[in-house]
Amino acid sequence: MLAPTVELLRAAQAGGYALGAFNVYNLEGVKAVVAAAQDADSPVLLQIHPKALDYGGTPLIALCLAAAVNASVPVAVHLDHSTSRDAIQAALGAGVSSIMADGSHLDYNANVAFTAEMTRLAHEQGAAVEAELGKISGTEDGLTVAETAARMTDPAQAADFVAATGIDALAVCIGNVHGPYPGEPRLDFDRLDAIRAVVEVPLVLHGTSGLPDALVQRAVELGVCKFNVNTELRQAYVGALGAAAGDLLDILNRAVHAMQDVVRAKITLFGSARKLPTNPKNV
Ligand code: 13P
Repeated sequence: MLAPTVELLRAAQAGGYALGAFNVYNLEGVKAVVAAAQDADSPVLLQIHPKALDYGGTPLIALCLAAAVNASVPVAVHLDHSTSRDAIQAALGAGVSSIMADGSHLDYNANVAFTAEMTRLAHEQGAAVEAELGKISGTEDGLTVAETAARMTDPAQAADFVAATGIDALAVCIGNVHGPYPGEPRLDFDRLDAIRAVVEVPLVLHGTSGLPDALVQRAVELGVCKFNVNTELRQAYVGALGAAAGDLLDILNRAVHAMQDVVRAKITLFGSARKLPTNPKNV
């Protein structure tokens, strides 16, 4: 069933577990995520990166929404990392359950203004909003320790940011990076704890691929309610295609199963298996 993101996040926050938000690019990704969630009786998010939206357009959103409606578990459809008002409006018009308004490249006041405006638009359509404070690095950024710390979420700003924008979920930067981690992943849990102490909305962690299980579990304990997973799924997909030979549908099914294995393991780790909200409202 298609479920509102905000309901799933609130249930996760109340239940002390986290949702997996898995980036999908096509039918194989959607099938893998929904099948794994159904096998585990878990709520889940299908997440569309703006580059995936450039590639798949509104038919990709329609595919996700149709898969959600037909799923036996609650599935929300989320637009990831959008810096563009046009893309956000298009996704809201197509019926997504939530968006990430990403003003993290802007200075603080401009980030607040952009995020507040996108939140107003989304809430008018009944959709939820995630936004980021701080700036998540990619592995290629080559930053010094001091530069990395300067880009982390400032707990002192976090409560003000949430209040000033009206967002429903806050993505934190605590040492997490998109893509493969360049060395041993380290998360600043003291910072996460300080953010949690002043922010009531559910917290989100990007860059989950490559994080050791113990760090993920600690993040759940400290209030992370949504983990974004992309790279590990892409690697599973590309790996299955690289090894592929034979009938096309057999190849596609192997790719689905490879991604499904990744999703299944993450759902178990996040603690969302067998956590179906009692009243997931259809939208
Ligand atoms: P990874 O690619 O590191 O899993 O990060 C995904 C992500 O954060 C998408 O927003």
